[in-house]
Amino acid sequence: MKKTTLSAFARRKREGERIVMVTAYDAPTAAAAADAGIDILLVGDSLGPTVLGYPNTLPVTMEQMLSHAAAVRRGAPDAFVIFDMPFMSYQESREKALRNAGRALKETGCDAVKLEGGAEQAALVAALVGSGIPVMAHTGLLPQHVQAMGGYHIQGRTPEAAEQLLAGARDLEQAGAFSLVLECIPAELGARITEALRIPTIGIGSGAGCSGQVQVMNDLLGIFEATPKHARRYAEVGRIMREALSAYASEVRSGVFPDEAHSFH
Ligand code: KIV
Repeated sequence: MKKTTLSAFARRKREGERIVMVTAYDAPTAAAAADAGIDILLVGDSLGPTVLGYPNTLPVTMEQMLSHAAAVRRGAPDAFVIFDMPFMSYQESREKALRNAGRALKETGCDAVKLEGGAEQAALVAALVGSGIPVMAHTGLLPQHVQAMGGYHIQGRTPEAAEQLLAGARDLEQAGAFSLVLECIPAELGARITEALRIPTIGIGSGAGCSGQVQVMNDLLGIFEATPKHARRYAEVGRIMREALSAYASEVRSGVFPDEAHSFH
């Protein structure tokens, strides 16, 4: 896998070449995604609900993210890997945000960080970029605001909300973000924001008009029973795991496993 560079992302947008991003949380799935030719691996704070069993992303800590991001880097040494800044690792103060984003790059070997928010985060994005930390911004539905939003709802449906998201996207570009995730906004607005910016947009539930797409690994692989509307199940890994584990349990109980071929003498 040839590592994608920051300048390549801008070129790919100009040339209309779509960018593919997927979340990864451990070494073997990161290696599989790299082998599959995925352009960007995002160590998302969706780590909370997908891997750690939390109801949402809020409890995820810097230490957990650092550990999983380092594993992803070990599994995919040549991939472009983005570290998702967890809740309260960058909101409290600029100093804390710089320290944590610096740790993300220094301690895990990730290539960039991602953080959630619109215009209100533009000054922080400029400070991080000014310190040499590439930033992917994230606007639209902000999972770290789930308590404030009272759930996960499509954003930007009214003309005022759409204008606000567009203005925020422009501010984030101006601040130096190299790319922008658009989460769960109407497809028309996704296309409009994409056309208004020079940097690539990466959509999740925001239509085909974005410069690229991101999905959560567990949704694509069909690990959970429920699948969000914006995701397609490309496999039924959850079912395959259950079948394999129940075959193993039944062979141990019946004495079929281990057999001679799996024994040492
Ligand atoms: O944490 C995550 O998985 C994300 C994606 C939904 C973009 O931020």
